[in-house]
Amino acid sequence: MAPAAARARFYSPPVDPAALHPPPRPDDVGELPRLEHPPGPVRLGDVVVDPPLFLAPMAGFTNLAFRRIVRRIGCGLTATEMVMAEGVVRRHEKTLELARLDAGERPGVVQIAGSDPAVMGEAAAILVDRGADVIDVNMGCPVRKIVDRCAGSALLKDPPLAAAIVAGIRRRVPVPVTVKIRAGWDDARQSVDVARALEAEGAAAVAVHGRTREQQYRGRASRDAIRAVKEALRVPVIANGDVVTARDALEMLRDTGADGVMIGRAALWDPWVFASAARALREGTLPPPPTPAERRAVLLEFFDETAALKGERTASLQMRKFASLYLRGFPGARRLRERLQTLDTRADFIEVIDGVFEGGHAPTPAIDAMGE
Ligand SMILES: Cc1cc2nc3c(=O)[nH]c(=O)nc-3n(C[C@H](O)[C@H](O)[C@H](O)COP(=O)(O)O)c2cc1C
Repeated sequence: MAPAAARARFYSPPVDPAALHPPPRPDDVGELPRLEHPPGPVRLGDVVVDPPLFLAPMAGFTNLAFRRIVRRIGCGLTATEMVMAEGVVRRHEKTLELARLDAGERPGVVQIAGSDPAVMGEAAAILVDRGADVIDVNMGCPVRKIVDRCAGSALLKDPPLAAAIVAGIRRRVPVPVTVKIRAGWDDARQSVDVARALEAEGAAAVAVHGRTREQQYRGRASRDAIRAVKEALRVPVIANGDVVTARDALEMLRDTGADGVMIGRAALWDPWVFASAARALREGTLPPPPTPAERRAVLLEFFDETAALKGERTASLQMRKFASLYLRGFPGARRLRERLQTLDTRADFIEVIDGVFEGGHAPTPAIDAMGE
């Protein structure tokens, strides 16, 4: 068992709670935008991502059970949340648990963070041995604890080191290496230099969250910054930031020319965003929204999958934070959130969700009530 200090060091980074207050859900009505060149599948070496819709890694949320659900719903590619390369190399138990892929999670992507090319290469080799089909490198994390170690978004200030990390990993593993960056450290023009350096070392794709590190989660993701990276690279560029609906996904593709879209926070309360974006891309139409029974079933599925993996108590704790996001916008959500904080068992959980989905509440969340 690792000592407490080491456990704290390698586990997942703290995330600014403000990050979980995403932009309001726009009114999703009217004709969908038509794309002149709808993107096809994204190719990362031999790995084909179809539809070109990616789940953004989110520490504390995109665990194995959640990834299983969004893949079933229609997401093209999921990745683990970021794990520290050093923790992988030291075979730190909790880090390896976070990096664990589902048996059916093919292709499986593990995201790693760090600043030493040799350690990153070693971690990648261990993870590929454990089943990873793609290694993704985090160059976007804004958290101080990470950037102080010259990892995450700090690498945006140092294109040569960023490139050396990709080279260090590619020397050790035969699988595609992708990188997730932000628009820059403090200036949205910085991403182009970094992205070019990454491509030159053989990065198979670059995902861009269109905010700088300085912005953290404030303001809007810049589509111009993403477009600039797209125009500078030949490898696929995946656009990320503030995509909340299928319409947003199409508009993001139209405005950036990107090859795919990555969706994070919106998937936490609307995992069906992947199904609707896939249909919108394929047919230019939207599927009907999920029924209350489907929404209830997915919540229960998430609980049961988590309980099967980690036990009922951990599933209850996980649901306290997840369900309060998922139920956002429902009438009475504030009261429900209070009730959720006392959740301890599956029976408690069923009582709460039955109150929402079978108790005469509105069947779909009110789109203008996100702030409740
Ligand atoms: C709670 C939370 C945890 C996150 N953890 C990670 C992470 O582990 N790795 C990463 O590359 N980005 C992480 N991000 C950033 C997201 O992947 C994504 O870039 C960001 O949320 C913007 O996309 P969105 O507007 O679709 O949510 C995290 C974001 C949130 C809200």
